[in-house]
Amino acid sequence: MDKFIIRGGKKLKGTVTISGAKNAALALMPATLLASGKYQLDNTPELRDIATMSRLLQTMGVDIERRSHSLHLNTFRVNKFEAPYEHVKKMRASIYVLGPLIARYGYAKVSLPGGCAWGPRPVNLHIEAIRKLGAAVDIDQGYIIARAKRLKAAKLAFDVSSVGATGNALMAAVLAKGTTIIENAAMEPEIVALAQFLMKMGARIDGISTTRLEIEGVDALHPVDETMIPDRIETGTFLIAAAITGGTVKLERCKPNHCTALLAKLEEAGAVLQMGDTWIKIKAPRAVEPVDVTTAVYPGFPTDMQAQWIALMSIAKGSCMVTDSIYYDRFKHVPELVRLGADIELSKNVAVVKGVKKLAGAKVMSTDLRASASLILAGLVAEGKTEVLRVYHLDRGYESIEKKLQQLGADIRRVSGQEF
Ligand code: EPZ
Repeated sequence: MDKFIIRGGKKLKGTVTISGAKNAALALMPATLLASGKYQLDNTPELRDIATMSRLLQTMGVDIERRSHSLHLNTFRVNKFEAPYEHVKKMRASIYVLGPLIARYGYAKVSLPGGCAWGPRPVNLHIEAIRKLGAAVDIDQGYIIARAKRLKAAKLAFDVSSVGATGNALMAAVLAKGTTIIENAAMEPEIVALAQFLMKMGARIDGISTTRLEIEGVDALHPVDETMIPDRIETGTFLIAAAITGGTVKLERCKPNHCTALLAKLEEAGAVLQMGDTWIKIKAPRAVEPVDVTTAVYPGFPTDMQAQWIALMSIAKGSCMVTDSIYYDRFKHVPELVRLGADIELSKNVAVVKGVKKLAGAKVMSTDLRASASLILAGLVAEGKTEVLRVYHLDRGYESIEKKLQQLGADIRRVSGQEF
């Protein structure tokens, strides 16, 4: 169990390169199950979650080889159609194999994901979608067992906008007979990237980047190569790292127009931004203004940036409210930030953050990916030494985060080894 030791107070300066999007790769990798052959996925970040997805696909017979940031997949010999509990409990996104398996092989046995660090995360929308597309679905001893000769088109309407359920429904519908409609589809850039990847494979999809998708099923798809879009959450995390430390940083190989809600809030907080198509330069506010945020589905303020925003607001010159309308219980970072001296009152899914003059270093515990990021951000500005324990959570979703921060002048180092 590694930990990070951070000595706060350094203003970040310099340039950082953003990696490929974890949540795009986690959708495109299982999509390769839809057609036999060779794929090359470039700009794929080296992350624990990507390794977990790779191992899962390998148990199904997919050959996968990583050459730097390129993944080479070969799906000629897929011969197992299961996602066992030991994989799914490690990473909920494993459920993304459900749609492609049932669409291409007519059978899927996928473990229910169970809870995650911050509470229950149901998969009812995934199950309802493939049932409506004609699959017979049973839940047996914690597994989703789905069977279908050939899926048939349907009109799907999600009560709740769901990234994962939209992804699974899309990957099921592309090989279904007839034209499927998906109403209230998620529009996150990672879902747009999945739809574009499927189109390159020969799928017929209308309405990409809108909440209404129309998919005309085809008989077969073919393998293609693709390059991952930049990771918009890593982008947001480094923007806040610059803002919270009073620094000036340039982010390269990012996509500002995937981050518009966050960029607007950062300007409201007093940051000065310049940007092009693939870069953003941020100059931190002299003093951070308090700015209310309510998370929403894309293009709203992402729930995956909620914890990082609370960290920034903890040193603002006033109070604000941060509301998570997507996950009501995604606040495990709050008690840890309070250990660093933050003044945060939580009631249900609303955090009232009263800015304090300074944070003071302490030992804090990571609980989930984005909560860990918020602790790192707070540690970068807290006086003295902050120890962030169990950083394997961070390694799930941030590629070499301590190296990238060191290059920007942060005093952060990884200490490997025994349970702390
Ligand atoms: C994706 O998770 C992301 N993960 C999450 O990022 C992100 O937080 C989330 O979308 C929301 O943006 C990946 O893309 C791999 P949802 P997903 O289905 O698909 C409810 C990270 O930090 N819901 O869009 O699991 C659900 O409870 C991770 O990289 C149902 O009710 O999220 C939630 O309230 C963490 N029933 C809302 O929908 C369902 O069947 C949105 O969840 C499915 C979801």
